[in-house]
Amino acid sequence: MSEELETNADKILAEAMRMSEKIEADIAQNPKKYRVLTGDRPTGRLHIGHYFGSLKNRVRLSKLGVPTMILIADYQVLTDHDAFDKISENTKELVIDYLAAGIEPGENVCIYPHSHVPEANQLMVPFLTLVTKSDLDRNPTVKDEMAKSSIPLNAGMYTYPVHQAVDILFCKGNVVPVGKDQLPHLEIARQIARRFNNKFCKGIDPIFPEPHALLSKTPMIMGLDGSAKMSKSLGNTIMLSASDDETAKAIKKAKTDQDRHITYDPVNRPEVANLLRIISLCTDETPEAIAERIGDGGGGMLKNTLTEALNEHLRPLRTKRAELEQQPELIKKVLNEGVEKAREIASKTLLEVRHVMNMEI
Ligand code: TRP
Repeated sequence: MSEELETNADKILAEAMRMSEKIEADIAQNPKKYRVLTGDRPTGRLHIGHYFGSLKNRVRLSKLGVPTMILIADYQVLTDHDAFDKISENTKELVIDYLAAGIEPGENVCIYPHSHVPEANQLMVPFLTLVTKSDLDRNPTVKDEMAKSSIPLNAGMYTYPVHQAVDILFCKGNVVPVGKDQLPHLEIARQIARRFNNKFCKGIDPIFPEPHALLSKTPMIMGLDGSAKMSKSLGNTIMLSASDDETAKAIKKAKTDQDRHITYDPVNRPEVANLLRIISLCTDETPEAIAERIGDGGGGMLKNTLTEALNEHLRPLRTKRAELEQQPELIKKVLNEGVEKAREIASKTLLEVRHVMNMEI
């Protein structure tokens, strides 16, 4: 990366962190000033990395009364070249995970697949005219994809950041809870909002807000095998839907190290530190205190403690999950109502957009 680009990325990160803190300080007092937009790809059930990393935060924000849109990015599955034969099934599994985790759809919260909101997808065409090829070439996620994939980059993937801007802007979402790695995407959404307003809303109120990131404070949970990321394809996860026994088995296989005495040392003992942090997320004790308590109990006791803490913490969620699996009609109703509400919002935005673009008939 050139020096200039690096300073620009640093600047964006610093500004995003500042705004994120500011929003966090204000959002509990003024929840209705904000609209949260978040989403997942329907590639399977969720695991504890998703749960501690984002799901719990979504539940918290929605319980504060912040209007919350939870989008299921089914079109993204196509751009990623993932198998599409299970999209419908995976979409329902996601809804089950959301509801089991405490998301309550209704007036304030809606859950919907973005392919079902045609009025929002119509924004894609004007938005594509507001970004240049070099804007997209600079996007690190797109660059990554170009570098690692053996098949040619499809135009859907290439322009995916623009579609993500549609996802955020159609409902005038102004808060997007994300990790730092998603900031370049968000920057494109911010640029599109700004460019649209500058071009089409001269002398009148801007239509789109510039969305801000709400950066997660929870450190990323690593895979149980020590990989940087917990991911189902790496087989290093614990699914929210796993049984107590499956959880125990996965934890038994988790990587630790040679040192029998347990200490919390994230730099030199990342795997042990990761397990301690997961316990800490379940029990609210500090990882240091947990390490001290286990001490010479070693890896065995660390794993037993984790198994117990995690199974205990997830028990209510798992019970609810099993009940929801028996209620397919309820899941369908949640999605239909979510789509209806999202379309209502999208239709309003599309009318405004058509008006300023002089495309009314
Ligand atoms: N790209 C996100 C992912 O890969 C999912 C997503 C789609 C999203 N549209 C979004 C996230 C809009 C936040 C905002 O998981």
